Amino acid sequence: MKHYFQKGKDASKPVLLLLHGTGGNEHSLLQIAEMIDPDASVLSVRGNVLEHGMPRFFKRLSEGVFDLDDLELRTKELNDFLNNASVEYGFDRQNIVAVGYSNGANIAGSLLFYFEEALKGVVLFHPMVPRRDLDIPSMDQLPVFIGAGVNDPLIKMAETEELKEILEQNGATVTLFWENYGHQLTEAEVMNAAKWYQENFRK
Ligand code: MLT
Repeated sequence: MKHYFQKGKDASKPVLLLLHGTGGNEHSLLQIAEMIDPDASVLSVRGNVLEHGMPRFFKRLSEGVFDLDDLELRTKELNDFLNNASVEYGFDRQNIVAVGYSNGANIAGSLLFYFEEALKGVVLFHPMVPRRDLDIPSMDQLPVFIGAGVNDPLIKMAETEELKEILEQNGATVTLFWENYGHQLTEAEVMNAAKWYQENFRK
């Protein structure tokens, strides 16, 4: 997959896996990684699917309606990519914290739904429930941060609560931060995600 890797100052830190929203690319979230942990390595990936020229991580049939076959294929493709990237760049595959926004948050969520221990932690900005028809692996105490908007036109508050519940039922420890805006990512969300990261990974 097309990507950007930058080795961090401190190799013991988690590798921040950046997953952009629809129409973004591997450069879109770099500033956010800097705000979360300026010393961590960064692996920022571009989605392999194009929708009217806009990169995404998997196909959709319409807004909010996912192509589940493609979601499965692309989730496995991303997981394989992470396995290979850890060998190529020499980092610990078990030490990845994903940071995804919108479509990127949805594939990050999907990684958790398919693969046990795919991630050490995850920041989901404006995620949906990736799918509802799987037996989900255990996420024993996996730290998850969700940032969501009370007026998000794409994601109802109930869907955010549903995702939190699914993750918690499978053992994850979820911190949910509500922002008063819509689908856009705000500075307050990023600052709260940075605080959550500090509490969980910089102790
Ligand atoms: C998706 O397709 O993943 C969601 O609708 C969010 C987005 O617009 O990318």
